[in-house]
Amino acid sequence: MRRPFIAGNWKLHKTLAESRDLAQQLFVGTADVKDRDIVIAPVFTALAAVNQVVGDTHIGLAAQNCYPADQGAFTGEVSPAQLKDAGCGYVIIGHSERRQLFSETDEFINQKVLKCLETGLNPILCIGETLEERETDQMLEVLTRQVKGGLAGLTAEQMERIVIAYEPVWAIGTGKTATDEQAQEAHSFIRGLVQGLFTPEVAAAVRILYGGSVKPGNVDGLMAQDDIDGALVGGASLNAEDFLRIIKFQS
Ligand code: PGA
Repeated sequence: MRRPFIAGNWKLHKTLAESRDLAQQLFVGTADVKDRDIVIAPVFTALAAVNQVVGDTHIGLAAQNCYPADQGAFTGEVSPAQLKDAGCGYVIIGHSERRQLFSETDEFINQKVLKCLETGLNPILCIGETLEERETDQMLEVLTRQVKGGLAGLTAEQMERIVIAYEPVWAIGTGKTATDEQAQEAHSFIRGLVQGLFTPEVAAAVRILYGGSVKPGNVDGLMAQDDIDGALVGGASLNAEDFLRIIKFQS
């Protein structure tokens, strides 16, 4: 059985005080939740402050991005080593907003994945097709390229530390969720890709999250699908009540 994994991607939202406050509400509200992983991803500047609230608790801390070097002349960037120092256990890598707005390639994303693994951080690798790619029957090709590209050079042992997030770009922040069946179909395909690249055991163990307009009202149906092991939540993770309901999904 794969342990469910619910992550909140706060994107470019919240002050320090708001971040600490939300983290505290989530900590209190999930005190009795023991059977699933809960992770939150504040902005870089709030990581250390949020770590003071959730560090050494059942809530994990993730960064939303990183640069694949330990240190150096890379103005404006943050390294996995620094993220670990700030209290992170995870890093979201290759989010579609980074791919689209900041032109990140699969090769660059792969460098980040490898650097995080080397540093002892667990990558949450995001993949997903655009609406145009889906409508022109390129979805499977795109997912294949992103999975193979993002996971290139990993050993089966390293793969055990990866979480994959399938986030169809057309569903992110649009209120248009993939149907349970559409999401399940993509997740099953992705698991098959992992099996081809690694082993059946690795594929059976890897957690694949769904992301894209996950809300209290649709999480239960999504989580009831065989190959959906969790959620990467944007908008609905900014509100304690909504995110707590998502964390406490019933499938
Ligand atoms: P959304 O974002 O839940 O607001 O659609 C999800 C994501 O981008 O991770």
